[in-house]
This record gives sequence, structure tokens and C-alpha cells, in this order.
Amino acid sequence: MIDVLEKTFSATPPTMFDALEPQPADALLALIGLHRADPRPDKIDVGVGVYRDAAGATPVFGAVKAAEALLVRDQPTKAYLGAEGDARFTELLSKIVLGPVLARSDRLTGVQTPGGTGALRLGAELLARAGMTGRVWIGAPTWPNHAPIFAAARLTVASHPYYDAANSHLDFDGMVEALRSAARGDVVLLHGCCHNPTGTGFSIEQWAVLAQLFAERGIVPFIDLAYQGLGDGLEQDAAGMRLMLDAVPQALIAYSCDKNFGLYRERVGALWVQAAATAIVSTIRDNLLVLARSLWSMPPDHGAAVVRLILEDPGLSDLWRAELDEMRTRIGQLRSALAAAHPRLGPIAGQRGLFAMLPIDRNAVDAMRERDGIYMAGSGRINIAGLKTDTIIPFVESLTPFLG
Ligand SMILES: Cc1ncc(COP(=O)(O)O)c(C=O)c1O
Repeated sequence: MIDVLEKTFSATPPTMFDALEPQPADALLALIGLHRADPRPDKIDVGVGVYRDAAGATPVFGAVKAAEALLVRDQPTKAYLGAEGDARFTELLSKIVLGPVLARSDRLTGVQTPGGTGALRLGAELLARAGMTGRVWIGAPTWPNHAPIFAAARLTVASHPYYDAANSHLDFDGMVEALRSAARGDVVLLHGCCHNPTGTGFSIEQWAVLAQLFAERGIVPFIDLAYQGLGDGLEQDAAGMRLMLDAVPQALIAYSCDKNFGLYRERVGALWVQAAATAIVSTIRDNLLVLARSLWSMPPDHGAAVVRLILEDPGLSDLWRAELDEMRTRIGQLRSALAAAHPRLGPIAGQRGLFAMLPIDRNAVDAMRERDGIYMAGSGRINIAGLKTDTIIPFVESLTPFLG
């Protein structure tokens, strides 16, 4: 018997996992490791995509700490919630995201999800389950996880121009031109504000052009709103999305609270679906819940309960808004300072959110890291909030030789 077992385990017959291919390590995680190991005291981390304050920390919001204290004191149970998560969280959040009018729309239904990523995946799965055969259009460049999420839901992804890297501005004409070949029922993924990685977004007039194009051609927008409040303000950052929702019959919105409440690891988000008619809304919702049950059963509660408590309490809401304003102001000041430091960086002042793309190549990114201890993504994407007033000058000095 022992002989037989030894034979079974010592030979190398095909196994279940032989077809799996090795996967590259996550580039940003590797960058964190390199940065950590760098002993230079003046090293600069503009790689990782989280907000940092003037001291370089990513602190827990005061409003979050206060809500957590309430939760510890008052939470009566940790019994299961359903697949929809915390319904009161979604209801309160919908007023911030959709505004008072759309929040009451009976053509919209929303559920809590594990972060914006969960919302994107749930929306993608819903499209697949609905039998979508068209294309999901994604701008180039975009957040690197977008295409894999839609591909994982077995949808066909297509790319359209978005950013003119040579001139550091939005290629709106190129985008519209490409989308003229989109078919009825195709989906276009749009960043609601604070585009990751370029910081470039649409003016309200450009949102109106897109809304008209989508309405005319039967294109369905899937809006990813992951940074509301970090651009121009909570209302302003949602204005384009709301305009779009008014103009088209059907839409999806993936939302993340992970940046604007600083709850990253708690995984707080929501998905809303707008239907063409109220009659189909409950069927859409039922399908979302069935999908959620097989994806994650139910979303994690803690972060959503914290957001609910903040939004329920006027004092905590004011504190949260003030903390968010402070973040936005700091990002804006750093953007202005960076733009003023070199003419080629001028466009950064007009961009919004945490990110910008430097007009440099991979060799320059490597050289800045090796020579000056400046850590950024290989694409040249920087997290503006990784800078400080006193690191802007050394940062721009290191960068200048590579700017044309
Ligand atoms: C554009 C964009 N969408 C969605 C997400 C996902 O957010 P979450 O961390 O809530 O899953 C991110 C995160 O970086 C993002 O940049």
C-alpha cells in the first residue's frame, strides 16, 4: 500500500493546475517593496494611489473614527445582512451620488458592493447575464483593472482614444470619432470625474455631446465614479454623470467610497442600474442579488455601516465634508505648484483628482528612481498627493532633463 502511495506522489503525472500560466507580479506592489527598501531619507513616493496628507500619511478620517466609536458602542448585532448589503447605506448615499431628484427615480435600483471593483464586476456580470453580445468600450489609457474585470465577465472589450499624451490633454475628438462606430447596445465605460491615470475629464459641454451621441445611437454608459469630491466638489464631480443619466434610458454606475471616505481596505461601494422602464427594475434587482450571492454572498458591513452613520448624522456629515474639502484643496494647491514649476507641466493645473501622467518614457521613470529615489508607476503616472510643498522643487529638478 505504501509503495502504491509513494508511486502516486513521486511521479509527476499531469495535475489539475498544470495549464495555469505564471502571472507577472503586481507592478505597483513591487514598487512599494522597492520604495520601502530604499534607505535614502529624501526618497519620494508618487506611486501608490492613495491620498496622502502634508505629513505623507493616509490617516483615518475624523468622521470615520467617530462613526466607528458609535458602531462599537451601539451596534446591536453582527447577524447576516442580505446580498443587497445595508439598504439604508445605499439609500443615503444615493442622495450624494445621484442628487435629490434622481435618487427618487423609480427607474434606478442600487445595491451595496465590495468597493468600486465589486460594483464594476457586478455590473459586468449583469450585462453578461442579460446576454450582451456587443462591445464594452474603454478609453486608453485607463485604470489597469477595467479591461480584466469586463473580460472576466466574458464580455468583449474594445478600446477608444482618450488622452493625447504628446500634448497632455483629452483627445475628445478622437474619442467621439471612434465611438461613432459603436453599435446600438454597446457599452462605454466613462470615468465620472478625476480620471485615473490622466486627471483629464470632460467639461459639462463635452458631457452633453456624449449624452446626445449615446442617446441617438443607443449606447449604454457605464460610469465609474471612484473619486467624487476629490475634483471640484461633491456636486460638481457628479454633474456630468447626472446629465448623462437624464439623457439616456439605460445606464450603470459603479461607485467607490474607498477614496472619498478613506476607507480603502474596508471595501465600500455601490452599483446603481438605470432601466428604460420601471416594469423591469425589480427583475434587474433580483438578478443583481442572485449574482451577488454567487460572487460574494453579501458585501462586508463595517465600512458601509460607518458611511451610513456619517450620512445619518448632520454633525458627522459636516465633519466628513470638511475633511474632504481639505483633501481637495491640498491636491489643488499641489497641482498649481507643480504646473507653475515647469511650462511642460502646465496642463496639470487644469486636471483633477489624485493622478497625472508625466510626459516621459519608461527610461526616465527608471532613471528618476535610481538616481533620485523618486518612485512612480512605469507608465509615468504620478499620485499628486504623494508630493509635499517642499518636495516639489527637487521633484521637478529631477524630472526637468527628461521634459522636451
Ligand atoms: C478608476 C477607478 N475605478 C475603480 C476603482 C476601484 O475602487 P475600490 O478600491 O473601491 O475597489 C479604482 C481604484 O483605484 C479606480 O481608480
